[in-house]
Amino acid sequence: MSQHAFQQQLHIDAIWRQSRDEAAFQAAITRTVPAELCRQAQADITRWEQYQATPLQSLPAMAAAAGLAAIHCKDEGPRFGLGSFKALGGAYAVALAAAQQPGGMTVACATEGNHGRSVAWGAQRAGIDCVIFLHEGVSPAREAAIAQYGARIMRVPGSYDDAVRACAQVSTQQGWQIISDTTWEGYEDIPKWVMAGYSVLAQELQTQLPQAPTHVFLQGGVGGMAAALMCSLERTWPDAAMRYIVVEPRSAACLMASARAGGQFRSTPGPFDTISAGLACGDPSRAVLSLIYEGSQMMLAVDDTAIKHAVRVFARPAGQDPTIVSGASGAAGLAGLHSVLAVPALRQALALDASSRVLLINTENDTDPQAYRDILQEA
Ligand SMILES: Cc1ncc(COP(=O)(O)O)c(C=O)c1O
Repeated sequence: MSQHAFQQQLHIDAIWRQSRDEAAFQAAITRTVPAELCRQAQADITRWEQYQATPLQSLPAMAAAAGLAAIHCKDEGPRFGLGSFKALGGAYAVALAAAQQPGGMTVACATEGNHGRSVAWGAQRAGIDCVIFLHEGVSPAREAAIAQYGARIMRVPGSYDDAVRACAQVSTQQGWQIISDTTWEGYEDIPKWVMAGYSVLAQELQTQLPQAPTHVFLQGGVGGMAAALMCSLERTWPDAAMRYIVVEPRSAACLMASARAGGQFRSTPGPFDTISAGLACGDPSRAVLSLIYEGSQMMLAVDDTAIKHAVRVFARPAGQDPTIVSGASGAAGLAGLHSVLAVPALRQALALDASSRVLLINTENDTDPQAYRDILQEA
C-alpha cells in the first residue's frame, strides 16, 4: 500500500447570500437587544471592582499568509478570571435580579459550563443562593469550576437542552429565579440582560480597534453571543458595512437550520458529537433568530477536525504573532475563517481580499484544561 495516505479532509456546510435587507436588519436590532439595556450594562459592568478590558490581539503573520489586510482577535480568556466572555452576561443578570429582590433569592440555570460559572460567581458576589443544572456530558473539571463559587450542582440525564427544560421545571416548582442565556416563549427579559452584558465586548473594541472590521466571525451556540455582538457592533460603527459570518459545529447547527427555514425556530436533534461544549445546543434562542437571519451574510457548519486545528493554530502561531489560549468553543470562529479561505467560492462570496480586516472572538481559554491538552497533543 502507498505510504501517502489521505490526511486532509474538508467537511463543511455553508449557506450565504449576496446582500441583506438593511431595514429588516435594523428593525431586528432594535427589537432584540434594546440600546438602553446595553448602555446600562456597559455603565454598570465597567464600574465593577475587578473590571478590566480584555486584550485585542493583532495577528499580522496570519493575515499576510491569508492575503488579508488584518486579522484581530478579541481574547476573552482573561475576563474576570472566569475564562470566557460568559462572565459578562450571567453575572450581570444575577446582579440585576438580586437588586430587584433585596430580601434574598435563589437563582438557577442550566449550562455547558461557562454560563453556569458566571451565574455562580455572580450569585456569590450578590450573596445569594445558586443552583446549577448540568447534563451528564459536562466534564468534572467544568463542574468543579462552578462549585468553587458555592453553587449547588444538579446533574440531569441527556443534553444541554434537557438540562434547560429540567431547570425550568424545578425552578418553577421551587420559586427559584432562572437566569438563562437562552430565550423561549414567555421568557425573554433576563436573557436580554445577559446579552446586554455581552455588549461590553463591543464597547471595548471601539477603543481598541483602529477602524471597524469588514468581516466578523461569530461562533454560535444558542445564538445569544452572535446576536449581542451584531447589535452592539452595528451601534458602535453605524456607517461601516460589516459582514457577519456565523460558525457552528456540524452536529449542532441549529442556527443554520433555523436560517434555512427563514429565521423560524428549528431544533437540531442530539446527541451532539462535538468537542465544542459551549456550542453543543440543539434549541436556538427564539428571540434572536430573526436578527441572525437578517444580519448574517454566511452561516457555516464546521467539523471538529477544523476546530481542533484552529485551537492548535492559536496555540502555535506563525511568525511573531502572539500565542492565544483558545478552547474548542473559542476557536470555532477561526475554524470558520480557515474553511472559507480553503474554498474559493466561499472566499469570493465574502469578498475576502487584501483590503479585508477580519475580527475573531476567542470566547474562552482552556476552560476544560484536560480537553485542551488533549487537542494540543493530538497533532
Ligand atoms: C466559550 C463559548 N463560546 C461561544 C458560546 C456560544 O454562545 P451562545 O450560546 O450565546 O451562542 C458559548 C456558549 O456557552 C461558550 O461557552
